[in-house]
Parts: sequence; structure tokens; C-alpha cells
Amino acid sequence: MKKTLVALAFSVGIALLTFPFGCYYDNEEDLYGPPLTNCDTTGMRFSVEIREIMAQNCDACHTSSSSTPSIFTFETHAEVEAVAKSGKLLNRINSQSLPMPPTGLLSACNRAKIEAWIKAGAPNN
Ligand code: HEC
Repeated sequence: MKKTLVALAFSVGIALLTFPFGCYYDNEEDLYGPPLTNCDTTGMRFSVEIREIMAQNCDACHTSSSSTPSIFTFETHAEVEAVAKSGKLLNRINSQSLPMPPTGLLSACNRAKIEAWIKAGAPNN
């Protein structure tokens, strides 16, 4: 009986030790798909490329004049920068379960553009 308990405790210990490491590793390709071709993400500007993507895909809900004005808005650079720097922006535009826009993910190229802008420090350019 004692032996069984020791063996049990031992296997539970091993399982707990290996589980978080054994099952979790990710690489960029699994998360974001294969590297993009024909998608120029250099020199992304908030006032041009990023605003254009948002105008087409986000403004319908994320502006004060939208149908859902109670949620936060993306009208100024400061507002978008805050969501970008908190990680929420990338999180939601790449989310399978809670995507933004809610109707489905943006194109891989548009997501890569937003990501490039965030990686550059989400500048007000
Ligand atoms: C059809 C309306 C709609 C559109 C279009 C839309 N959103 Fe949203 N968004 C919402 C609503 C409603 C919420 C609040 C509920 C939630 O978090 O799901 C939200 C929440 C979010 C959040 C989470 C903020 C937080 O504090 O957790 C982010 C980030 C976001 N949206 C980004 C975007 C971006 C970027 C786009 C465009 C690419 C977009 N949304 C397009 C309706 C929309």
C-alpha cells in the first residue's frame, strides 16, 4: 500500500513537471501561418496604412459615432497606441475564438502590417 502511494505520488510529480513544458511550445509559423509573400510591411505609418485598415474594418464599431459607441474608440493615435502596447490589439486581431473584427480575421497581410507597426513602437507617424 505504502509502495503504491509512493509510486503514485512519483508519477503525479513527473506528470506535473513535464506537462507545462512538454505540451507547450509555439513557433511563428504555427501561430501566424507561413511567411507572407507580396506583403510589404516596411515603413508602416499610423496616419496612412494603419488608419486605412481601421477605417475599413474597425471604425464601424470603434468610433463614438458608431452603432456601439459604448465600447472604447480608436479615434486618436493615443487610443490605438494604448491597446497596441497592452498586447490586446495583436491578441484580438489574431484570435481564433474572439477575433476582431468579430466577423472574421483580417487578411494575413493586414495583420502583418499592424504587427509591424506595433513592433516599431506604435509610432504616431
Ligand atoms: C461589429 C463591431 C466591431 C468591429 C467591426 C470591430 N470590433 Fe473590436 N470590439 C467590438 C466589441 C463589441 C468589443 C467589446 C467586446 C469584446 O471584447 O469582444 C470589441 C473589443 C475589441 C478589443 C478588446 C479591447 C479590450 O479592452 O479588451 C480590441 C483590441 C478590438 N476590439 C479591436 C478591434 C480591431 C483592431 C478591429 C478592426 C480590425 C475591430 N475591433 C473591429 C466590436 C467590433
